[in-house]
Amino acid sequence: MLYSVGLSFVVLLSVIGAATVDSGEYDYFKYHPMSEITDWMTQLEKENPDIVTIMDYGKTYEKKTISLLKIGVKTGEKKKAIWMDCGIHAREWIAPAFCQYFVRQILDAYKKDPKMEEMMKNMDFYVTPVLNMDGYTFSWTNDSTRLWRKNRSPGPKDCDCYGTDLNRNFDAFWGTVGVSFDCCSIFYCGSQAASEPETQAVTYFVGTRKEDFLCFLTIHSYGQMLLLPYGLPNVTDPNYKELMEVGLAAAEAIKKVHGMDYTVGTSPDILYEFSGSSKDWSRLQGIPFTYTFELRDNGTYAFKLPEDQIKPTCEEAYSGALHIITYAHDKTFNGAVATAAVTLWTLVLAVGVTGTNLM
Ligand SMILES: *[C@@H]1O[C@H](CO)[C@@H](O)[C@H](O)[C@H]1NC(C)=O
Ligand SMILES: *[C@@H]1O[C@H](CO)[C@@H](O)[C@H](O)[C@H]1NC(C)=O
Ligand SMILES: *[C@@H]1O[C@H](CO)[C@@H](O)[C@H](O)[C@H]1NC(C)=O
Ligand SMILES: [Zn+2]
Repeated sequence: MLYSVGLSFVVLLSVIGAATVDSGEYDYFKYHPMSEITDWMTQLEKENPDIVTIMDYGKTYEKKTISLLKIGVKTGEKKKAIWMDCGIHAREWIAPAFCQYFVRQILDAYKKDPKMEEMMKNMDFYVTPVLNMDGYTFSWTNDSTRLWRKNRSPGPKDCDCYGTDLNRNFDAFWGTVGVSFDCCSIFYCGSQAASEPETQAVTYFVGTRKEDFLCFLTIHSYGQMLLLPYGLPNVTDPNYKELMEVGLAAAEAIKKVHGMDYTVGTSPDILYEFSGSSKDWSRLQGIPFTYTFELRDNGTYAFKLPEDQIKPTCEEAYSGALHIITYAHDKTFNGAVATAAVTLWTLVLAVGVTGTNLM
């Protein structure tokens, strides 16, 4: 009897123990394996049921469920939206760390900062912490898999290699420049546009809501760059000037935090030419503000950025991302208010002028 009471007590204690592992104790400045990131998402939804919802929107090649966090005030009205994905390339571990930090920051800001509250009323944030879950998990296996980049689907029949470069697989000038058709290459673009389940998941989710999205931000490393559309030298964005201005201002915001330089431009101008990226695809869908972030560093540690750089990298990148998001928000919402005011003022002036003429 005593024994069984003791046992229940122990069971009860361990249940309480499990329940108190809250996201306040989560270490945002360490790299986490996939299972810990998934648990973190569940915990965050549990702690913030009024503004955080997990949405499942696809399956990886290995049948893992791809999920995002939808974050915003449930107003019951149709809202605008912000897209952010991290971890499309497996080895770029700083990217998922940034998505997690970003989510923590906007949740904290929501409670303290009226501007964030306003943005969360007007917009929902859709954040995918790890898009290429199979590749990310594989990169955690051992030292020899650490630098894996692609997803984990097998190549065509005559090829023994695995994986497609998901950021060459989108239906945006697919297969034209800066890709490989050799399935052993790290830039293998797949057997056709959007051949991969991970690409299909984003294409469907974003494609069916494309009018809602103001921003599409996709997070990579490394190189300290903000890339704007397009990846091809012969295609110019009609909105290039504004994208460049907003990007340069975001780079300035980044520099203010820890003094780091980020270069801004299209990939042919500052990196290299390539086709089939998610950024170019989302811009072709009509999403106005689409950027690729290449986070720290500039080649010293490359993909193996030490953990003591997670915090400063996230802090500065948050500042840059927030600049772009705030600009897009204000242009859409405050911009509309300003236009209405100008229209009214013009009307008043016109009436005034007519009145004057009548006299
Ligand atoms: C690392 O993991 C891969 C994939 O499971 C395996 O093929 C390889 O033998 C492992 N290498 C070492 C050094 O353990
Ligand atoms: C740009 O070049 C690519 C690759 O050569 C080609 O597929 C595409 O049609 C070109 N686009 C335009 C607008 O000329
Ligand atoms: C990064 O390093 C390269 C090569 O040294 C250099 O050309 C580039 O300007 C650096 N970029 C930044 C943003 O410091
Ligand atoms: Zn990348």
